[in-house]
Amino acid sequence: MTISTDVTALDLPDLTLVGLDRDQQLAAIADARTQHWLAKTMFGVAVTHYDDAVAVLRDRRFHSALSLIPELQGIGDSGFETSRRQSILSMEGEPHARLRRLVAKAFTPMAADALRPFMRSVINDLIDSVDPLGGGDFVEAICEPYPIPIICELLGAPPQDWRLFSDWATNIFKIFNGTLAEDLPAVQQAGKELEQYVTAMIERRRNDPADDLLSTMIAIEEAGDRLSTDELIMMAEAVLMAGTDTTRNQLACTMALFATHPQQWAVLVDRPELASKAVEESMRYLGAVRGTMRVASEPVEMRGVLFPQGTLVNIPLASANRDDDHFDTPNVFDITAERTSVQMTFGSGVHYCLGAALARAELQEALALLAERWPIFALAGDIEWKPETFGIWGPAKLPVRWTNS
Ligand code: HEM
Repeated sequence: MTISTDVTALDLPDLTLVGLDRDQQLAAIADARTQHWLAKTMFGVAVTHYDDAVAVLRDRRFHSALSLIPELQGIGDSGFETSRRQSILSMEGEPHARLRRLVAKAFTPMAADALRPFMRSVINDLIDSVDPLGGGDFVEAICEPYPIPIICELLGAPPQDWRLFSDWATNIFKIFNGTLAEDLPAVQQAGKELEQYVTAMIERRRNDPADDLLSTMIAIEEAGDRLSTDELIMMAEAVLMAGTDTTRNQLACTMALFATHPQQWAVLVDRPELASKAVEESMRYLGAVRGTMRVASEPVEMRGVLFPQGTLVNIPLASANRDDDHFDTPNVFDITAERTSVQMTFGSGVHYCLGAALARAELQEALALLAERWPIFALAGDIEWKPETFGIWGPAKLPVRWTNS
């Protein structure tokens, strides 16, 4: 019988990433990977290999650490967590599995495909609304306004309300920015307003169903089991929250890559059928969600290491995406490369992104149309990146020149 060594007794490489930019962080984790499959971080340990990232995310003994975020940011006794409805992202075990089973049919690739014509019309309208022979901040012009009308359409909210949703999403997302002590009132107020809005919508849909996600989720029934009103509200919030900032930051990351790799843009302009590969490769090379966290719900033994209950484990998805055991030329952005492993930016295991099919469709439609309509897409200044502390990350400003066709 092998005896596992307590993780705290291991001499692990130190991964203090504070103050490092993204490339330096990736280099530091790559260096740690050559020393050990684990590294010490400010909060717990990190796994340094792709395989171990997948293994931890698929191991049911490691639970989501989402509910620990307020505590990690020094928010202890505000009643913040207890006042919040538990999100699908932080649920575990049978209650989580039940919810995933119930909602799975509303999030199939087929359901996402049904929204493709609407996605194309949103992107076309956005392109039409900017100076055809001009330029500007791509984030403001296209990324910011793109995902919210789609989530509104998906849920069945009137398009004119997209700004309300946008503001709620922006405020609630401040929970991930590392400044919760200061942002708490805005986060809580937005949560309250969104809940009131969604509750009223559920009431309307119960009496008058439509062809939208909310009506589908109300109608879902499996062996007599249904979603409660509380669960419906939580799911609507989860879709809005998980489906907006992620997609807009990913589109901005992806287009920042093309702006800095003009030869790759030329390839896509020439072969727009590569849009789907371009989405996967850009999410691998520059993912907007760079990592997630788990906590050992019980003492866990893995690869000869004992993780005592409560151990925090960081899963740096961005560095798993550059693991050279899985990707040849991991540090090259090439939309024609044949990659044999799946990019990790949608996570893995039971919490694997529920909206992956929708996000993929949104990004593919955007890329194909942008390549068709903006054969010229070039950097026109320095890219301003969001602070490294942001959980969902990308360019704050992406100054570019474009030419409408
Ligand atoms: C490019 C865009 C997106 C990225 C990079 C992304 C990434 C992720 C990741 C990494 C997770 C797992 C987190 C963890 O394991 O801790 C996740 C979960 C989730 N995502 Fe996404 N996401 C995106 C778009 C979307 C969209 C459009 C929706 C909604 C329609 C969505 C809904 C969800 C939900 C509900 C979960 C929680 C699933 C669960 O806990 O069972 N996401 N996403």
